[in-house]
Amino acid sequence: MQDASHKLVIVARTLLPAGLEALEDRFEVREGGIDGTREQLLGLVPEANALISDPTVKVDDELLDAAGDALMIVANFAVGHDNIDLEACRRREIVVTNTPNVLIQATAELALGLTLAAARQMSDAERELREGRWRGWDPGAYLGIELSGATVGVVGMGGIGRRYSRLVKSLGAQVVYASPRPKLEAERALDAHRLELPDLLAASDVVSLHAPANDETHHLIGRPELDRIGPGAILINTSRGPLVDEAELAAALTDGRLGGAGLDVYEHEPEIPQALLDAPRCVLLPHIGSATSLSRDAMALLVADNVAAVLEGREPRTPIA
Ligand code: DGY
Repeated sequence: MQDASHKLVIVARTLLPAGLEALEDRFEVREGGIDGTREQLLGLVPEANALISDPTVKVDDELLDAAGDALMIVANFAVGHDNIDLEACRRREIVVTNTPNVLIQATAELALGLTLAAARQMSDAERELREGRWRGWDPGAYLGIELSGATVGVVGMGGIGRRYSRLVKSLGAQVVYASPRPKLEAERALDAHRLELPDLLAASDVVSLHAPANDETHHLIGRPELDRIGPGAILINTSRGPLVDEAELAAALTDGRLGGAGLDVYEHEPEIPQALLDAPRCVLLPHIGSATSLSRDAMALLVADNVAAVLEGREPRTPIA
């Protein structure tokens, strides 16, 4: 039996010191470790009052049952929360929080970097150089896309989509966007036009995904969509892997039906289909969108703040509606 002031916080994997130190002062904190298994986590969570998850941790009935009735909050160390069964949490009256806003700039900058890298085939070019296959300056090699004058199609105009739009606009791109609802403030600030997805895909030189993973967006980009984007344009995904049918993407790149791609996220991380690893004109990064010290520290602090608020009877800063 726990005394009323004693609260147990379980970190499913690991939390950066910025967040950990803020919690350790007030609560008992136990970490599963970066390589902890599901079985170990199931053994760690019983009697937890707070659970800190991240995109690799599936928070479902099984885990919530193992945690038991004392669990008050699941605090996700990420803005995306497709790893969490929100309904299962609601049924148990468990608060769920995420880390929006603080990672917008880092993720938008990474998306811009990936866009530039894919637009100029930087991965293929660097690999050729490193493997000693570069035979000198070639006027016709690796011809790419310039962002100045390009049309960039942004799918999902939330915080990251807006910031990315601003960045590509500063390089001279014209922005069009697709979103379930009009974003009038973004339209005004960015001079961006809203299009239906098929029209956006056909009109864009760069298509960049910034939408959450859910039933509506699963395999949003499959064969027909890739064929609409076409051989003169590129696809960028820094949102969530399940938005893209990876087998179709690899085939489109290999067959030359798509100009290029830049991915930071995958459907079954950390597994990447061999066909995608082998595909040409494709830049692949290991889910590092928010990986700057500034952003990750702010995320860790926000996680700690949300946990402390709920355990101390206050409103968390960033609950998921
Ligand atoms: C997020 O916050 O959803 C990111 O994918 C993790 O960096």
